Amino acid sequence: MRILITSPIYPDAIQELCERHHVICAFYAEEEVLQSLIRDCDILVFRSGVSITAEVMASAPNLKLLIRAGSGLDNLDLEYVRKRGLEFFRISEPGAQAVAELTFALMLALARQVLVADRLLRQGRWAKHELTGYLLAGKTLGIVGAGNIGSRVGQMGAAWGMKVIGCVEDPSPEIEATLREKGIHLTDFQEVLSKGDFVTIHVPLKESTRNMIDAEALARMKPGAFLLNLARGGVVDEDALYKALTEGHLRGAALDVHQEEGEGKISPLAELPNVILTPHIGAVTIESQREIGARVIEIIDGFVLEDVRPKLAADLFMPESYV
Ligand code: MLT
Repeated sequence: MRILITSPIYPDAIQELCERHHVICAFYAEEEVLQSLIRDCDILVFRSGVSITAEVMASAPNLKLLIRAGSGLDNLDLEYVRKRGLEFFRISEPGAQAVAELTFALMLALARQVLVADRLLRQGRWAKHELTGYLLAGKTLGIVGAGNIGSRVGQMGAAWGMKVIGCVEDPSPEIEATLREKGIHLTDFQEVLSKGDFVTIHVPLKESTRNMIDAEALARMKPGAFLLNLARGGVVDEDALYKALTEGHLRGAALDVHQEEGEGKISPLAELPNVILTPHIGAVTIESQREIGARVIEIIDGFVLEDVRPKLAADLFMPESYV
């Protein structure tokens, strides 16, 4: 098989694929480059940071299988995939715990100004009395998008002694009961914004969530609250966030995903000491990436053996509209 891999996946998995297939690795290539590289390929493996447009896929007449080595679908033209009847797999589960743990790490770092403390100490400043922080225990954690990742963050918050509230796109009594078991009280978006001391975003990027956290939403947040975005850059209006932070309405923010991502891009938010910025590393742990790599191989093996369909682990799923 000819396989195009457009984003780094676990190196052992790439090596194993290279031993059995013709593999082209072209990480973070522009659309025109992808169009030429994919031409003779049967399989495409991708993550975030590339645009898998209809034009890219249309350049590959032999393309049969697409594997999203992660969760987000905002960089894929799903409509084209569906129309052409391409086989599609998404490996969302292994990264979920990693994103949830990074969320918690960033929340603690914001509350205790860990990065500011580190920077000052490296400059010889012993700022012990300027760095009084906040406890998470007793605070309200608001989760926008209490799904697979968001509800894991909620469970961690509950274990930490936080009061946890969350909202979902389509609430139902079943979802409410599931979240209750995890210590999360289901409420609506407005209440999550207005009551959260820490508000964390975990929704996919789509038309209904683009700029969901705009100036109006930020104004509804509790004065002195912290905002975390580990979803997608397009969900938060970063100009409005900059304003809310510099005007002192919000106490701080942490972003792992950004309106502009990639080498050499520096957000205006980087000027602010009360902001933590990380380069979209939510799902990047050894364990998650090793697991994703193993599943990529499992899917390709199943596909090559024409074993009707790869033996699927529970979380390898096709979007509901496919079944
Ligand atoms: C994801 O959606 O799984 C994450 O963005 C990880 C990635 O693909 O880099």
